[in-house]
Amino acid sequence: MTDRAQGAPIRVALLGCGTVGGEIVRLLTDQADDLAARVGAPVELVGVAVRRPHKHPELPAGLVTADAAGLVTRDDVDIVVEVVGGIEPVRTLLLEALKAGKSVVTANKALLAEDGAVLAEAADASGADLYYEAAVAGAIPLLRPLRESLVGDRITRVAGIVNGTTNFILSSMASSGAGYTDALEEATRLGYAEADPSADVDGYDAASKAAILASLAFHTRVTAADVHCEGIRTVSAADIAAAASLDCTIKLLAICERVPSEDGAADAVSARVYPAMIPSAHPLASVDGAFNAVFVEAEAAGQLMFYGQGAGGAPTASAVLGDLVAVGRNLVVGGRGPRESTYASLPVLPMGAVSTRYHVSLEVADRAGVLAAVAREFAQHDVSIAAVRQYGGGRNGGSAGGSAAVRLVVVTHAAPDSALASTVEALEGLDAVRGVESVLRVEDLGRSVSALGVTG
Ligand code: NDP
Ligand code: HSE
Repeated sequence: MTDRAQGAPIRVALLGCGTVGGEIVRLLTDQADDLAARVGAPVELVGVAVRRPHKHPELPAGLVTADAAGLVTRDDVDIVVEVVGGIEPVRTLLLEALKAGKSVVTANKALLAEDGAVLAEAADASGADLYYEAAVAGAIPLLRPLRESLVGDRITRVAGIVNGTTNFILSSMASSGAGYTDALEEATRLGYAEADPSADVDGYDAASKAAILASLAFHTRVTAADVHCEGIRTVSAADIAAAASLDCTIKLLAICERVPSEDGAADAVSARVYPAMIPSAHPLASVDGAFNAVFVEAEAAGQLMFYGQGAGGAPTASAVLGDLVAVGRNLVVGGRGPRESTYASLPVLPMGAVSTRYHVSLEVADRAGVLAAVAREFAQHDVSIAAVRQYGGGRNGGSAGGSAAVRLVVVTHAAPDSALASTVEALEGLDAVRGVESVLRVEDLGRSVSALGVTG
């Protein structure tokens, strides 16, 4: 039994009242009766900390404060909800709250991916809850299924689109033929991309989410620093067109895989983020705009797909309130939710050891022997070619020593990233190669990429 007084309110301190925080306040107010019935006690907002209190006339004056440090340890606070973002001062604030025995609900993927272990230890030490469903894929219930529903299964892969801004940009490039810069401008104008879009377009936001997903899926602590990360700045209109001509679509993917060992040693984990070609027939290819979608594969459950709004004030607030109700219920019955499970401690593979397929586009001299020279470099680095296409060349091409150029597209079978990188370096050193125009990974996500001449 709990030592809380029967019917005593659950007292909530909110840190941050911007896009997400504002919606949390609205839902807490509008749905107060329903929330009380679901939790088993009234949920009462007792303080809101913001950076500039004078900018928040919408909040009752008695609730607002700039003193977040004072708020998180106040005796009349049971749960701290954090929607400020960033590492400091939030890390210090949440550690102080946890040390003081307050449970924490946060949407802060950057902090969790960098210092989730420290927060989890602090929660364990004081017997408090740490919930963060909103940190990955906004409204989509994804972390709780990984942490609870699928905990009896062995998850082998979690892969998908977890960044709405970049998905909006790539979708817009695909549908309109626009270049990256124009598509980014449109995303900014419509409010999807922030003034400084680097966390999204350089892949760091998705990498933080991949770290959280891999940690939960594989019971292993994975941090953002463990995640190989490439963004979408280099994806060109030509890449999008090349993908379309092969019946493929380019998406920024977060991929977390359990990689079986070949020598009887422990399995390993791979966590990576990069733009990749996927078959247009794959369900992820039709996830457009700012939506998110994630595939989870587990040995017994098979494939599961989660789809929905991955960002925005109200969708994210929905996930935060789900956590708030769960933590409130735990407080009412005097228990706590599941702890972090990192017992497996699997090693994380460096990207060089990860095998994927590649689409390599080269501009080469159009003369005898060039194709053979290119093929030789792939062979020498043990990268097996699955298909080759040549574009351009005509009546003036093909002469010995001629200056005409053609585009060669080489699609490989799966090869280690390090082998492909060495191949590209060697290709760039060939006289006949005018330039390696693009290197894109090809992910079939469990389906054969037949359009590329690649199967199995
Ligand atoms: P906003 O920038 O809209 O709001 C941030 C809030 O934090 C503001 O109210 C700001 O105060 C307050 N704040 C900033 N610094 C401090 C400080 N030192 N002490 C107290 N308050 C402070 O952010 P969002 O609502 O968009 O995002 C919040 C969190 O949710 C982030 O972790 C983000 O990654 C995450 N998230 C956001 C999603 C989205 O769609 N927006 C989706 C999923 C997760 P003031 O108002 O005075 O400036
Ligand atoms: N910037 C993020 C996105 C917000 O575009 O998906 C949600 O985490």
